[in-house]
Amino acid sequence: MPEAVVRPLTPADAPQYRVLMLQAYVLDADAFTSTAEERALEPQAWWVKRIAHPAGLGVAFGAEEGGQLVGTVGLEFSAKPKTRHAALLLGMVVREAARRQGIGRRLVMAALAHAAQHPQVQVVTLTVTEGNAAALRLYEQAGFVAWGTEPMAIATPSGFKGKVHMSCTLARSDAAA
Ligand SMILES: CC(C)(COP(=O)(O)OP(=O)(O)OC[C@H]1O[C@@H](n2cnc3c(N)ncnc32)[C@H](O)[C@@H]1OP(=O)(O)O)[C@@H](O)C(=O)NCCC(=O)NCCS
Repeated sequence: MPEAVVRPLTPADAPQYRVLMLQAYVLDADAFTSTAEERALEPQAWWVKRIAHPAGLGVAFGAEEGGQLVGTVGLEFSAKPKTRHAALLLGMVVREAARRQGIGRRLVMAALAHAAQHPQVQVVTLTVTEGNAAALRLYEQAGFVAWGTEPMAIATPSGFKGKVHMSCTLARSDAAA
């Protein structure tokens, strides 16, 4: 199988993106704050905004193999003057059959590179469910640093779990003081 192509998603990708995420909310339920039932109610426009927001406040990258979306990661930007220096990385998943091939790393690096192109963005943040060793390791390798754990952040079938908060400060030459 040739290497997956990592690219920005467009509104045309919304139906495939929706399927991938709805599956992920079930298969990797503890990794996400939303449930498949909640998200299944969202209209098509919500999914389009998630991957290619008309005002540029949300983008997503996809990894495609043989015309199939096998992985994705999203970024959300803030329009508020006091928080627009921070972007949020979210919706990270790689289909089980495609894991451990470096796709997750390539998606995170694509998201960080994109964030770095936004002159106002200085830091990318994310949260990971406590105990998700694969994701924690992936983010650490990409340059994220864990700075705290929010206790009882999500309710799961096996009880409440904490969320580890991580940040990655972008190395940029044009950083404003
Ligand atoms: C986390 C996830 C996205 C990783 O995707 P992936 O494509 O398998 O990751 P990569 O192959 O790019 O791995 C990059 C690094 O992550 C770490 N990693 C990935 N999977 C791992 C695992 N099962 N155990 C330990 N470390 C792991 C390793 O450090 C790896 O580097 P290495 O291969 O040089 O050791 C994937 O496991 C996944 O979709 N999990 C379910 C959803 C989820 O947890 N999303 C994150 C929400 S915050």
